[in-house]
Amino acid sequence: MEKILFDAQLGIPSEIECGTNRIKWNEAAYPEYSGIRTFDKMKALYENPEGIPEQREMYYTAGRVARKIDMDFFKSNGITYEYTIIPVCDVNGECNKTHGHVHGINPATGKRRMEAFEILHGYGCFELFKEVGRNEFDCLVVLLEKGDCFIVPSDFFHLSINLSLSDPFIFADLIKDDVDTIYSYVKEKNGGPYRMLHDQDGEMYYRLNSNWADCRINLKVMRCKDCNWQNPLAGKKLYEGFIENTQRVKEILEG
Ligand SMILES: [Fe+2]
Repeated sequence: MEKILFDAQLGIPSEIECGTNRIKWNEAAYPEYSGIRTFDKMKALYENPEGIPEQREMYYTAGRVARKIDMDFFKSNGITYEYTIIPVCDVNGECNKTHGHVHGINPATGKRRMEAFEILHGYGCFELFKEVGRNEFDCLVVLLEKGDCFIVPSDFFHLSINLSLSDPFIFADLIKDDVDTIYSYVKEKNGGPYRMLHDQDGEMYYRLNSNWADCRINLKVMRCKDCNWQNPLAGKKLYEGFIENTQRVKEILEG
């Protein structure tokens, strides 16, 4: 079975078995908690959910991942480093994705917190959207591949989609511990404005989610390198960037 090793790249000694998509942890580094999102919690977000078993495991998360020696440092700074693994799953032509949310407002600042991401394996996209007028939304689809880092700006809903037909899409993120997640539009409209699909030849395309048909959607598709909020830590990996530039990262994430 193929394994994805993270030791050399990140300093986080872990590996992922591609067949099961489970992370194999060890004594030196591990998460404090982990989760599995099954299809029954996701099916409303797909155009055609027929035929997919309710208990099908759609994606995996691991939270407060840290080397043993760094765990207290993360906790005392109120920052969590997380993993998300989105395996390949063909939902009647639609690509597998996370649920999506926007962050709650921090009462101390009146702003929503930001989240920094780093792609560890595979390729996919983040769909970001926010309301900019009455029934009008900006929607950005950011195409991402291994090594890309970027920040989800404040006020954007965000969900991530695996665009590969062969590899899991795996990414890490840094976020403040006490961030709330709000689902509102994602639940009300059964997903984000656009769906990512593939045809029988594996060609990718996108289609407007019909529940958004009464809204004006300003769609922009871009690569990570074309985003002006990319690379917040000057080329550092997220994990080591946080250890080396803790205050800077905390300021960024505060929004
Ligand atoms: Fe988030």
